[in-house]
Amino acid sequence: MPVLRVRDFEIHPGYFSTDEQAALVAELRAILAKAPLVQPVTPRGTPMSVRMSAAGEYGWISDRKGYRYEALHPSGVPWPPIPECLLTMWAALVPDARKPECCLINWYDPAARMGLHQDRDEADLTQPVVSVSLGDEALFRMGNTSRAGKTESVWLRSGDVVVMGGSARLAYHGIDRIRPNSSTLLPKGGRINLTLRVVT
Ligand code: SIN
Ligand code: FE2
Repeated sequence: MPVLRVRDFEIHPGYFSTDEQAALVAELRAILAKAPLVQPVTPRGTPMSVRMSAAGEYGWISDRKGYRYEALHPSGVPWPPIPECLLTMWAALVPDARKPECCLINWYDPAARMGLHQDRDEADLTQPVVSVSLGDEALFRMGNTSRAGKTESVWLRSGDVVVMGGSARLAYHGIDRIRPNSSTLLPKGGRINLTLRVVT
């Protein structure tokens, strides 16, 4: 399918086939068995609606102490390795980038959302972030590098990949809502979003 561009956001609809998505979900289940999802709280103590885990050398953590990357899951175990198919995708879509050091796993139940934010806890902001959507569709809002100003939204579907590079790397983005029961990939519904990042 053709690539869709919204400003510097590069959207690849249906990048992963249904079979590839199912195989990836099986790998994610094995990762989550070792590094279970946790419900983060903001530094002010407000619970986030998504639940999170990670793969790779680092996972992104939010708790009372703030936002940061950590080399260990809160339980003290290392994060499992990033699935090979994601490393292959990264090499194909962003060949000039350094290797990803984190695959953040966000789990959205039907009521979960993610407020408009920038991804800026990484040391090298010249490196792209690549996002993979699995399961229920999600309304993805894209802004610019200031919180104010116009935004545009698209529905992301299971198997879609978004590359956030160039001016999109520091653009505000978020998930307004998911559309329950819009995918049969996950037997109990919901959505998984993966974001691959270079951390150091
Ligand atoms: C994120 O910005 O970390 C998540 C985006 C998404 O869920 O598609
Ligand atoms: Fe983000």
